[in-house]
Amino acid sequence: MAVKIAIGNDHSAVEMKNEIMEHLKAKGYEVINLGTDSHESCDYPVYGEKVGRAVVSGEADLGIAICGTGLGISLAANKVKGVRACVCSEPYTARMSRLHNNANVLAFGARVIGPELAKMIVDVWLETEFEGERHQRRVNMIMDIEKRGG
Ligand code: RB5
Repeated sequence: MAVKIAIGNDHSAVEMKNEIMEHLKAKGYEVINLGTDSHESCDYPVYGEKVGRAVVSGEADLGIAICGTGLGISLAANKVKGVRACVCSEPYTARMSRLHNNANVLAFGARVIGPELAKMIVDVWLETEFEGERHQRRVNMIMDIEKRGG
């Protein structure tokens, strides 16, 4: 069964989202488009939350969230319990966000990086597995903060 990726974006990232969706489909991923397809100004928290909820509910295996900087949409996604969204502007951080942090949402900025670098980041992120062991304990500690409440 194909890995399902939920992708969300605001108005600043419509073209980037489309490029990434095509790239993912060509690689055999199933893509759920939860972002806007309009250039009209809209509010990134709506789309960060949608991506986060799709991942946590199991509708999608992983999520990709794109706004101008990647910041606002990742902050919104991270408010959904169970989400670990990381902003990555280069492949090293993308790789480590999976290996050590078990990130389940990748975020980046359409106004920060170009589509070719974005595709490289997406590929590295999707191809890297969580290392577990001592990192599991630390990720559990992060999730415990949620359990204790804000
Ligand atoms: C929209 O102008 C911009 O603020 C948004 O895309 C994002 O960068 C916010 O963090």
